[in-house]
Amino acid sequence: MSTQTLAQFLEQHQAQHQLDAQLIALIQQIAASCRRIHQAVRQGALGGVLGSLEQQNVQGETQKKLDVMANDFMLEGNQQGGCVAAMASEEMDHHYAIPAEYSKGPYLLLFDPLDGSSNIDVNVSVGTIFSVLKAPTGTEITDDSFLQNGRQQHAAGYAIYGPQTMLLFSLGHGVFGFTLEPNRDEWLLTHVDIKIAPETAEFAINMSNFRHWDEAIRHYVKDCLAGTEGPRAKNFNMRWIASMVADVHRIMMRGGIFMYPWDKRDPSKPGKLRLMYEANPMSFLVEQAGGKAINADKAILDVDPQGLHQRLSVILGSAQEVQTVADYYQKHKQ
Ligand code: AHG
Ligand code: MN
Ligand code: MN
Repeated sequence: MSTQTLAQFLEQHQAQHQLDAQLIALIQQIAASCRRIHQAVRQGALGGVLGSLEQQNVQGETQKKLDVMANDFMLEGNQQGGCVAAMASEEMDHHYAIPAEYSKGPYLLLFDPLDGSSNIDVNVSVGTIFSVLKAPTGTEITDDSFLQNGRQQHAAGYAIYGPQTMLLFSLGHGVFGFTLEPNRDEWLLTHVDIKIAPETAEFAINMSNFRHWDEAIRHYVKDCLAGTEGPRAKNFNMRWIASMVADVHRIMMRGGIFMYPWDKRDPSKPGKLRLMYEANPMSFLVEQAGGKAINADKAILDVDPQGLHQRLSVILGSAQEVQTVADYYQKHKQ
């Protein structure tokens, strides 16, 4: 087992791929912010961090205490290092400009500070998802500056606060996983160049929405449920954690397919998950790990963003299985 620290890995990775020093510094800052969030999460009821606040975010969702704390930790941890020009998050209506007393850097940082927050009060894994873009130069930063498609990401990753706290990220040269060593409180490299198995017999979807899905997804899931007696001629297993981070992490470790598809519950919401700080960073990681990520018939990374909090349908994971879903969409096109 490697005992390379995050700092040692980053130094080597930077030299090997001629990466920008400020990008490397930013990853270290994000990792430090996630360690702070980890400390708050693990305190649970003892730290008085559980429960909800009497306020909603721009998504109309009631904010949990930890949503707001994690958001503050990300802002505080990343505004000072001179790496970012502005930040945007699930928990803020508009982007956050770096205060005048700090120097601005060349990157834009987007994040979901606490993903899976419905799970926090029941002690199930949650996480932090992040995406790094280049800030436009010679122009004022606005919300629109963030609306770059997923292929423009310079880095993406997540921290998962589970039985182990882990950090997975990619700088465009594979996906690497670090485990927080509890005694030294240090990120150590434990997962080198993670690859997602191309085939799987495990799907993740919130089945309670079955009646709201479109034809393609209904047929796909029905055929999985039919097992060896159906057209797929194999038995499937199902998992749904309701923390995207945890569901994606399982797929990173042992393959699988994750779906939060479009559904007809609310015409103003074409899916539940948000493009800029959930779907894009996860799709970047999944593609870097050899998997595939689509909204329906298009790669998520090729979707041109229209808004900071835009939602879309997400299907990602093992490449062959995601292709199978793409084929169902093709077949059920009107
Ligand atoms: P968040 O807690 O950041 O709002 O994200 C929650 C998301 C995602 O993590 C998860 O996959 C999905 O919501 C679960 O939704 P359901 O409760 O509808 O299953
Ligand atoms: Mn989320
Ligand atoms: Mn969240």
